[in-house]
Amino acid sequence: MSSDKIPGYTYGTAEIPDAPISMDEFERLQQTVLFDEDDEEYLQMAGDVLEDQIDDVLDVWYGFVADHDFLVYYFANGEGNPDEEYLDRVRERFGQWIRDTCETPYDEDWLNYQFEIGRRHTREKKNEVDDADAVDHIDMRYLVAFIYPITATIREFLADSDHSDADVDAMYHAWFKSIVLQVTLWSYPYVPDENW
Ligand code: HEM
Repeated sequence: MSSDKIPGYTYGTAEIPDAPISMDEFERLQQTVLFDEDDEEYLQMAGDVLEDQIDDVLDVWYGFVADHDFLVYYFANGEGNPDEEYLDRVRERFGQWIRDTCETPYDEDWLNYQFEIGRRHTREKKNEVDDADAVDHIDMRYLVAFIYPITATIREFLADSDHSDADVDAMYHAWFKSIVLQVTLWSYPYVPDENW
């Protein structure tokens, strides 16, 4: 989805370069995490469940970051204090990302933007869209390790609905697969081409 109201959110715009992999290669990656049409449907269901809870989800994730100085560090300004403006701007895009994660099927615009999100976590582009003065790179080990909290914490929000336990479970697994898929794509700028 494209939205020009969110600062720095450039999904689907001409500014975003084409992905370095084809849709066929992307399809193989989807198969590798067992992501199929059912997952697409369950993510759409998850999108409906999460829509009114996005701020609460973000409160949990931002609270988790705030509780750990070594994570806040990536959002700190030149004086070492949390850069509230940077945090707020990223938060808006994070909220939109929840919607984009649930808005399936994933097309070329979605794939292209994954590589942009990857770049924005690295020296290639971190701080740029928000003109922030923070450290210029997020170490990859934290990106990978974040898969767990970003996945585990979503379950209670998915369960806060009228859906059956089986549906909640299916939404949860679809979400988990999508996060693994996305972080895999985001690892691209961290790894030499011939190893990726
Ligand atoms: C940006 C998600 C890991 C810090 C973003 C954005 C999203 C996101 C959706 C905004 C993308 C956009 O610009 O449209 C995630 C997810 C992660 C993850 C799902 C892991 C599963 C981390 C970690 C840190 C971090 C470990 C470090 C504490 C940041 C920062 C930005 C950002 C500082 C702003 C980058 C910029 O300057 O443009 N992240 N992130 N992220 N994330 Fe992450």
